[in-house]
Amino acid sequence: MAENKLGYKNMEIDLENNMSIDKIENVEPIENLKRKINIGKLNAPPKAWYYLGTVKSIKTTPTPFSPWGKPLIAYRNKEGIVAQYRHCIHMNTDLAKGSVVNGNITCPMHAWKFDKNGKCTDIPGGNHNECTLRLPTFPTHIVGGHAFVYKQTIKRGETPPTMPFPAFEDLGWDDFEIGKGIDFLSDSPWYLITANGFDICHFEFVHGRVPLIKSKINFNSNNHCSINHNYKNISQTWFDRLVRYVYGEKMSLNYNVFNGNMILSRTGMNGKSNYMCANVQPLDSERSKITIFPLTPKTIAIKQIPILKHIGNFIRRIIIRQFFLAELRSIKSVRLLPENLMESDRVVTQYFHWLSTAMHKSTTKEETHEK
Ligand code: FES
Ligand SMILES: [Fe+2]
Repeated sequence: MAENKLGYKNMEIDLENNMSIDKIENVEPIENLKRKINIGKLNAPPKAWYYLGTVKSIKTTPTPFSPWGKPLIAYRNKEGIVAQYRHCIHMNTDLAKGSVVNGNITCPMHAWKFDKNGKCTDIPGGNHNECTLRLPTFPTHIVGGHAFVYKQTIKRGETPPTMPFPAFEDLGWDDFEIGKGIDFLSDSPWYLITANGFDICHFEFVHGRVPLIKSKINFNSNNHCSINHNYKNISQTWFDRLVRYVYGEKMSLNYNVFNGNMILSRTGMNGKSNYMCANVQPLDSERSKITIFPLTPKTIAIKQIPILKHIGNFIRRIIIRQFFLAELRSIKSVRLLPENLMESDRVVTQYFHWLSTAMHKSTTKEETHEK
């Protein structure tokens, strides 16, 4: 089996010729691609960044969360946000009922204490140095007042590893004003939400966006996949008519998926760019939660007159909500049936293949209870 520099394995491919992944994927028979799509693997939440909530909403006392279906607690301290496993490693007591004193969470049952890295720092009536267990603890990251948690435990002796946080190529997070998250619940598995941007045909039939040139998928790395679309907006919904009236009918979409669950997109209309971030959380194998953040480049935000800015943001949020409600309605009963994928589904098949192979290479079983 050959392996290219991104670790993306392809059987029967001559990599000596330095073919790009795109070329490899475009010559790989569709039957080969779909055979390697593994729904069992896809059902496992990916090792990725998950949205916790606004920093303000996370209290200084432990608050329960379950960003990828596993019970966690999070609390805020002077340095940031601490996210840990919700159940005590001693006898499983619910730490959401515990307290945080001097940066240590104290279990309400036998008062064991754990620091921000999950290390046991006190066992009343015992010796904590003999405790070989650690309370599983997860890296967190804050952007624009919003907290995210990464699905990988911090190991002993490690300072929290700096997992790269997804970002646009040209603008950093500090360059944006990040709007309040808009939440959606979906009856679709998490991987179908992000895959939708690669489902070429549905753009025309669901969204009334007729392709102007062929969209091409790009496998940027094991954790980042993107696509560029150029289309004409012929949709008859009121919000698309409004958008067309203001910006014209031509649109472009640069759509990036990081770690399978984070979308960063840029829509271009008549020279204007509209940025958005979406974070997908699996609730179970059939349902997901999506949080969408409208992003406004600060260079634009500072020039806006406050009242017009509020009105503009209000309208933008309504349009985002309407667009995604229609989107979620359209994919409500859609399920991935690899055996039914055809040549006309090549791009989305490539995406699922990438999710099952390259991206999932970085997903291992969650490590727990190791010191
Ligand atoms: S169950 Fe938590 S200290 Fe015993
Ligand atoms: Fe869609």
